[in-house]
Amino acid sequence: MSADDRFLHEDNVAAIFAPLQFRHLEVKNRLFRSNLSGMFDDYNGHGGNARLNWEEKFAEGGVACIISSYTPVAVRGRILTRYAMIDDDDKIPFWRAVGERVHRHDCKFLMQLSHSGRQQDLGGVENIYKRGLSSTDKDDYFHGLPAQAMTRDEIAEVVEQFAQGARRARAAGLDGVELHGANGYLITQFLSSGINDRNDDYGGSIENRARFVLEIVRAIRREVGRDFHLQMKVNAVDHNDWLYPWIAKGNDLDDTLKICRILIDGGDGVDAFHVSSGSTFPHPRNPPGDLPLRDVVRWYDGMLSQGTRTRFNYAIFSNPVLSRFFLWYWRWRRGSVIEGINVAYSKAIAEAVRAVDPSVKVLCTGGFQHADAIAGAIRDGACDGVAIGRPLIANNDLPLILERSNGPASGKECTYCNKCLLNDLENPLGCYELSRYDGATFDEKYDRMIAEVMSVFSPPTFH
Ligand SMILES: Cc1cc2nc3c(=O)[nH]c(=O)nc-3n(C[C@H](O)[C@H](O)[C@H](O)COP(=O)(O)O)c2cc1C
Ligand code: SF4
Repeated sequence: MSADDRFLHEDNVAAIFAPLQFRHLEVKNRLFRSNLSGMFDDYNGHGGNARLNWEEKFAEGGVACIISSYTPVAVRGRILTRYAMIDDDDKIPFWRAVGERVHRHDCKFLMQLSHSGRQQDLGGVENIYKRGLSSTDKDDYFHGLPAQAMTRDEIAEVVEQFAQGARRARAAGLDGVELHGANGYLITQFLSSGINDRNDDYGGSIENRARFVLEIVRAIRREVGRDFHLQMKVNAVDHNDWLYPWIAKGNDLDDTLKICRILIDGGDGVDAFHVSSGSTFPHPRNPPGDLPLRDVVRWYDGMLSQGTRTRFNYAIFSNPVLSRFFLWYWRWRRGSVIEGINVAYSKAIAEAVRAVDPSVKVLCTGGFQHADAIAGAIRDGACDGVAIGRPLIANNDLPLILERSNGPASGKECTYCNKCLLNDLENPLGCYELSRYDGATFDEKYDRMIAEVMSVFSPPTFH
């Protein structure tokens, strides 16, 4: 490293490894493990040993805080089976064990309280004959997953499920909760002008569309008080029309700024925002990267009977010409910037919320794996910290790498191929990018990859 490079690196390290003080939570640096769902648990929503091992990998690797994977507040709000839930007090002991494992490494743990609404990929046998609860009766536009507009009683029931989820997270000794208000799940379905077509108090104006989540925030505060960390993952922009330009655009940045101001709720509401974008999951902007066509064809088949559009999508994905066109279109809609894809949005949100209440912090997600990009975003005021997903799957010890260099060695970076995402529909979560693994032959690389993916089951439940 030249003297200039060393100076720059020290500057980056100072920005990234400075502690971050939220209103009621302090973390040791600016690196958060973003939400990463994997099917590690029991079918009935009780947590498993693999999840303990999984979360500990990142805590050991040096992140300041882990934001959990999608944690359903009710069975009806599940997106896939075998995710640990928080729908009952009987789940508290498991989450206490997760918190204790992670805390051993001076790492905090936030639980992402979630409800699928209509965006339920494989909801399991309990949900098979039910339409997904939503703000609308319209099917989801991507897979055609069926929806049912919620009644007032159902809204009140789900608000309470979120509140009880937060109470349980606090009882488990966790450090806070995050509302999954982004990427097309139930809270987005209420917030988005492109999805919410109600004509009662929960639809129409921004204030009405935000009523559902504001009721959740207030119910959570009633249960856990003001001193328990509460943040929300938001879509800065919905880009609801990015796959099908003829449908409504959904929320723009101005709408989101108004929603954020509402959720600060005069200082009694949320403590931080976690900025993402895209009103469905996946979306060309989230997780920003590629569509691994071979994996799409191999693993999307499990969803064929789920939605009215899944067979149509599958026909496109498995057609050699149409799939190439779809891939080209997906990449074009994503754009050329992957690392820091949400930075400009995050900056607008950070400036707006600081103007209302400087104690509210902002995290940004999307592609971060290099010190200069992370430190640049923090120094520029675009965010107070970054939430990293796939680059941490690829390199669990990314924080340690960033302490000594600008990023992973050549050939070891996350390639943003999204093979982890597609495999996640049926296989254990892990990095499935063969090119990242050492070996002289395909078989050697493949064996190393499988060994790494399977390492989450070690140590095993029974010794
Ligand atoms: C396999 C996988 C699972 C994910 N699960 C969740 C989730 O449960 N909740 C959520 O809010 N985001 C989820 N995400 C999105 C990530 O948290 C993150 O915001 C996104 O991937 C962009 O960050 P990255 O480029 O660092 O991966 C997931 C992403 C991947 C690849
Ligand atoms: S499979 Fe590996 S390299 Fe590809 S996006 Fe996922 S973590 Fe990154």
